[in-house]
Amino acid sequence: MHTPVYLDNHATTPVDPRVLEAMLPCFSGVFGNPSSRVHEFGWRAAEAVETARAQVARLIGAAPDEIIFTSGATESNNLAIKGVYEAAAKHGNHIITCATEHTAVLDVCRSLEKRGALVTILPVDSGGLLDPGRVADAITDHTVLISVMTANNEIGVIQPIEDIARVAAYKDIPFHTDAAQACGKAPFNVRMAGIHLVSFTAHKLYGPKGVGALCIRRRPPRVRLAAQIHGGGQERGWRSGTLNVPGIVGFGKACELMLDEMPAESLRLRVMRDRLLTLLRESIDGVDVNGALEPRLPHNLNVSFERVEGESLIMRLRDVAVSSGSACASASVSPSHVLHALGLTPERAHSSLRIGLGRFNTNPEIDYAAGRIIEEVKRLREISPTS
Ligand SMILES: Cc1ncc(COP(=O)(O)O)c(C=O)c1O
Repeated sequence: MHTPVYLDNHATTPVDPRVLEAMLPCFSGVFGNPSSRVHEFGWRAAEAVETARAQVARLIGAAPDEIIFTSGATESNNLAIKGVYEAAAKHGNHIITCATEHTAVLDVCRSLEKRGALVTILPVDSGGLLDPGRVADAITDHTVLISVMTANNEIGVIQPIEDIARVAAYKDIPFHTDAAQACGKAPFNVRMAGIHLVSFTAHKLYGPKGVGALCIRRRPPRVRLAAQIHGGGQERGWRSGTLNVPGIVGFGKACELMLDEMPAESLRLRVMRDRLLTLLRESIDGVDVNGALEPRLPHNLNVSFERVEGESLIMRLRDVAVSSGSACASASVSPSHVLHALGLTPERAHSSLRIGLGRFNTNPEIDYAAGRIIEEVKRLREISPTS
């Protein structure tokens, strides 16, 4: 077993060696620009991209021509939210979203507020779940988009996305979901009633960084979307720019592997995750799970340790890579907006750890991590002035 043990798979996942192998030819032989329509180099690159598009589409039950490649879920969210908002300017200016969304949704909505958007940010219950009834109540004649994430990146809680999508469909309102954490980790199919737009990204599913997708469904009512990046007209005009062929090929391979391996992998990770929680609870008191344990991503655990400052714990765990929340916010000292939305006290929010298991973790690593967390929690409690 090697240390440090990596348990921060919500921040990013290592590239699967099989994905890397699929990507390598794109740096040498298949180096052409897929937009070069007049020679063999371009054709081969375009063929590789179309194979990947089919693989990516298959993971979420979409048609290949419903997939637009982007640089990641942040860009996909920007395209979906700003794109719908701009295209719907004549019809309304109201967007509904949720308090526990990733900043790649919340900050996009905030930026639109400066351009005249009215944004309703719905609260969640103490488990982190959004009540579809609240979504229905929030809809007005001016609502142009509902955006609710599928699974949360900090607490792993899975929203009742089918029910929310049904509410949106009933009112003919485009529905977008940020499924960056859910795709490949939990059963997800875009054919669910009413889903129009899905954002996801390769680096959360053992693919490379810097590549993602927006699925734009063709189902009626057809969603109208204004492009956010203009130029050469690639990706049917929705996202200009030369395609990242190695990244896209890696994304495709990662999705193919996920589709094949998800059932067994989810089960294995769930068993390891539950074992980790049991080990912690057997040895120390005051271990509280943040967010509902079910429905939750099988590889997520977010726990608070009473009378322990989370940042101090993380600093002491140099041989176990965990985090206190979103990687994008981990430089900030303010408590996570997600834990705040659950109604946790600042003390409890500040005593939390986010643990994300992944494909390459082993049972000995989990035992080691549990032992180290227990050791450091005990030590911090011993030296804590409040203990
Ligand atoms: C739920 C969620 N949305 C969006 C993102 C951003 O994805 P990307 O890094 O591909 O831009 C992340 C990554 O942290 C995420 O967890």
